[in-house]
Order: sequence, then structure tokens, then C-alpha cells
Amino acid sequence: MCRDTPDGLYFPAKLITNDKRCDLTEQKGFTLWMTGLSGAGKTTIAKILEAELKERGLKIERLDGDVVRQSLTRDLGFSKEDRDKNIERVTFVAKLLSRNGVGVIASFISPYQAVRDLIRQETTGFIEVFIHAPLEVCIERDVKGMYQKAIAGEIQNFTGISDPYEEPVNPEIVINTHEETPEESAARLIAYLEEHNFIPLAETA
Ligand code: ADX
Repeated sequence: MCRDTPDGLYFPAKLITNDKRCDLTEQKGFTLWMTGLSGAGKTTIAKILEAELKERGLKIERLDGDVVRQSLTRDLGFSKEDRDKNIERVTFVAKLLSRNGVGVIASFISPYQAVRDLIRQETTGFIEVFIHAPLEVCIERDVKGMYQKAIAGEIQNFTGISDPYEEPVNPEIVINTHEETPEESAARLIAYLEEHNFIPLAETA
């Protein structure tokens, strides 16, 4: 059934059944925020988590440092001021999404505790996840070849080498990626989301 409007536009008045309306309002928003050194495993775990949650029919948006820095924050570099601006803009997006029932998976180095505390205040259902691997392990992995360049002085202000990383003071979850597989880490995050009622329990076959 459609409703006529003065300007000739039609709006569907009863397109959504009660069942469907229930589905649409059921999901709780959350902001699962992964912080950690480059190469610690944030993006790998985030992608597995995203796939599993989408498979369950949940509304999920993944925000990733490398991706966001090619669009929304492409004008920014890696000084403290620019990193803060980067996270400030992403926080704004996460705030809008999470308060509207979307599950946000964010993966950013986000090296400063004070800024992470601000994200906690701004967003809905904030979960601080420290994706941790010792610096030596990240250097050894050097997935993007950036540590080698940073050590050689070819990249300035590189987190862990020539720029600070403040470890989370009181994170909800710590994941030691040198001690478990990314699949195991993603499973632990899902268990946390289930236990804290951010997502429904998976249906058993
Ligand atoms: S943050 O500090 O502002 O949170 P963000 O997570 O968005 O950083 O971006 C980090 C990514 O940018 C790294 O994974 C790496 O690929 C790239 N990068 C380029 N230069 C640097 C640098 N100086 N320090 C850290 N990461 C850098």
C-alpha cells in the first residue's frame, strides 16, 4: 500500500511486515576496535570476522586503516596530529553506524590511548581489542616490507621503530597473534560478541 504525498511522490506505507520489522531492529550496534602494530594481524583477523558475521546475516561494516587512508583520509600522513585526525574522522563514521544497529569492525594502529578513550565515549558498544605480537615478530613478518624501509630510515615516523605505540591500558580483549591462528582469534572474538549479547548465538544444526 502506498501513501500519496503533496509533491506527487509515493512512499510505501506497509512494505515491511511485522516479522521483518523485528528482524530490522533486533541487531545491536557495536564498535569492535582493533588496535596494534602494523603486521600484528589486525586486517587478517578483521576479514575473517567480517565474513563469519555476514554469513550469519548480520549488518557489518569493516573500516581498515590502509583502505580508509586511500579515500576518507587520503590527505593525511603519520604525524601525531594527522593520526589523531585520521581516527577522529573514522570515529565519526563508526559512531553513526554503531548507533544505527550496525556492527563495526575497525582495524587501525590507533597508537594513542587518549584517542582510543575518546572513541569509547563517542561510539556505541565499544570493545577495545589489542591485537598483539612482539615487535620482533612483526619485523620478522614484515608483510608489506615497510619495517625494513623504516629501519633503514626510508620511512619516517614508523610506529614501533621511529614513532610511539601506547599499549592499551585496559582492553576488553587481548589477542596474542604469535600464539594462535587468525581463525582461532576470530572465533574468540565471536564468542565474546555472543557472550555479551552483541550478536545472537549461532544456530546449531
Ligand atoms: S593510524 O596510526 O593513523 O591509526 P592507520 O592504521 O590508519 O594508522 O594506518 C596504518 C597503515 O599505514 C600501516 O598498516 C601501513 O601499511 C601504512 N603506513 C605508512 N606509513 C606508516 C607509518 N609511518 N607508520 C605506520 N604505518 C604506516
